[in-house]
Amino acid sequence: RKKVTIQELHNLRQSNTPISMLTAYDFPTAHACSSSPLTDITLVGDSLAQVCLGYDSTTQLTLSEMIHHCKAVARGSTHPFIVADMPFGTFHSTVSEAVTNAIQLVREGRVEGVKLEGGKEIVNVVRRLSEVGIPVMAHVGLMPQRHTSMSGYKVQGRNAEGAKKVVEDALALQEAGAFAMVVEAVPLELGKYVTELLKIPTIGIGAGPHTSGQVLVYDDVMGAWSGHKAKFVRRFANSRELREKAVQEYGEAVRDGTFPHPETESYTVDKHQWARFL
Ligand code: KIV
Ligand code: NA
Repeated sequence: RKKVTIQELHNLRQSNTPISMLTAYDFPTAHACSSSPLTDITLVGDSLAQVCLGYDSTTQLTLSEMIHHCKAVARGSTHPFIVADMPFGTFHSTVSEAVTNAIQLVREGRVEGVKLEGGKEIVNVVRRLSEVGIPVMAHVGLMPQRHTSMSGYKVQGRNAEGAKKVVEDALALQEAGAFAMVVEAVPLELGKYVTELLKIPTIGIGAGPHTSGQVLVYDDVMGAWSGHKAKFVRRFANSRELREKAVQEYGEAVRDGTFPHPETESYTVDKHQWARFL
């Protein structure tokens, strides 16, 4: 499949073909995302803070850590459109600082677009980035970078005021030039309403089946962890079990001396050369 463009993403929305987005954090996960022609967008999500780096929140992730991972994803990626999250604190101080940081993600990280969590209060940044030619994916609803001020990871827009805020934010961000929008953890009715209201594609996560597309975290799709599972996660594999079984069996094979096999998994010397060596 040829490189996905923004135009193609809009065409998918126009034809009611659900857009498929998945996160990646390094070379092998980028490869995995690219292995299916059905993947439209690969997101270097700041969820890498938790799933790859062991931080307990995305707010601990730095720009240089994000860039380091973006580079690896770009090297492993083929057709999907590549978007990176702008980490917490890299787009709020001033518009010019946000532009400088986004340029670094594009130039060094080799991503094609940036994703910013926020509503009306960030429209100046979204407008400026869009104006200078850096495609912006907005992110409304649950914003994990604000988990402290929002008192946890909670479904948003469940009451009239909350729904009104999501809708107003979405409209303002579209008007500012966002090319697409992630809508996280809202009732499916609100996911549908926002999708029908907007002209740009919506990519839902915990926003029901009526958005223009879906996104999930790679490790959730793979079943890489078996602890708490958010309601909106579907585990399409059980890689944790597979991985731990292999680690166990490797340990056993080393311990009992059955690995490596002397014939099929070892090299041998030329007999003549070996006699001379001795
Ligand atoms: O960081 C992330 O992985 C995300 C997606 C799940 C939308 O923002
Ligand atoms: Na994110």
